[in-house]
Amino acid sequence: MKILIAEDDITVRTILESFVQSIGHDPITATDGREAYEVWELEHPRIVVTDWIMPYIDGLEMCRRIREKDDRYTYIMIVSSQDSQQDIVRGLEGGVDDYLTKPVNYHEFKARIEIGERIVKLETELIRRFDTIKRNYFQTVKMFTNLIEIFDEELGGHCRRVAELGLRIAKRHPDVSEQDYSTLEAASLLHDVGMIGLPNSLVTKRKVEMTHDEKKLYRAHPTQGEVILKEIEFLRPVSRLVKYHHEQFNGRGFPEGLKGDDIPLLSRIINAACAYDDLLRKWRVPLEDIPVRLQRQRNYELDPEIVDILLEINLDHIHNEETKGWIEVDIDKLENGMVLAKDIRMKRGALVMPADTELSEYGVEKLKNFLDLACISNRAIIYKF
Ligand SMILES: [Fe+2]
Repeated sequence: MKILIAEDDITVRTILESFVQSIGHDPITATDGREAYEVWELEHPRIVVTDWIMPYIDGLEMCRRIREKDDRYTYIMIVSSQDSQQDIVRGLEGGVDDYLTKPVNYHEFKARIEIGERIVKLETELIRRFDTIKRNYFQTVKMFTNLIEIFDEELGGHCRRVAELGLRIAKRHPDVSEQDYSTLEAASLLHDVGMIGLPNSLVTKRKVEMTHDEKKLYRAHPTQGEVILKEIEFLRPVSRLVKYHHEQFNGRGFPEGLKGDDIPLLSRIINAACAYDDLLRKWRVPLEDIPVRLQRQRNYELDPEIVDILLEINLDHIHNEETKGWIEVDIDKLENGMVLAKDIRMKRGALVMPADTELSEYGVEKLKNFLDLACISNRAIIYKF
């Protein structure tokens, strides 16, 4: 392990350097606080042994600067000739982890470096475990997203587009913080997970065309989604947002008829993103006509502040539509992340995958399988950008 030694006294520096080498570590030396800080920035040693009083910046100031910038924990030990109890307390309160007085005893130094090593290793292990938890979180969300896609390709596409649009709304909304983005993204991707298991016909059916029983089934899907997701502890905040994604600003939504600000902000965003996506994809409303349709929903179904943001985004879409083009690609060459510009249909005309679907690994695989079975043509139209 690299250990940085900051010491202006050449004799002490040489002794510490030989101590570090003899216990099997790799010493890097600096002759003053400024040089030591520059070396730390460059090499990021996890253990720093430093004198207190040094030219330019002293050991405590260096410690303060390291703590300010440190994203991995650096274990800092002061080795000083200031040996009063007051000095030791001041040093430890200044943010260092350990304090050793000169002259340094080899055995004590070795034992204290071992403590530092243990702390650094524990921190590394903690980060590794945290990364695993984070990875599991995203894999679980992805698994549910794939399930929705397998249940109904169109519903899967809707969820992915809602997630993308929801994030765009959130980034423009003054009350949404960056920490909320991943929860919003997961909740948007999974907002209709409660539809799995319902008759597929309900996914595309207009609400006015549903029978009483169908309506009852349909209106249960947000709560059903909540029930599924809250089983997984780290998805509980997501499950709450899913539960309220059909609440309306005027209080006439479901399942609880919440009104205005009583509806969680992120659920209001998901709801608005769904409404926009339905206008565009389900009802094929041209971009130019969307503002009129959105204005009708302002203060009724949708939060007026979010409608304003959607109107801005719609203007961007109109602009993009004018400037973006599309290209033809062999089905074999399709990759994750490409976006279909036109529907892919079976030779008999049945829809396989709708336009605006962002291709996932599963989606690409599915199209290649359809091609192998000679059900679709070997070319797809995708957006250039
Ligand atoms: Fe829904």
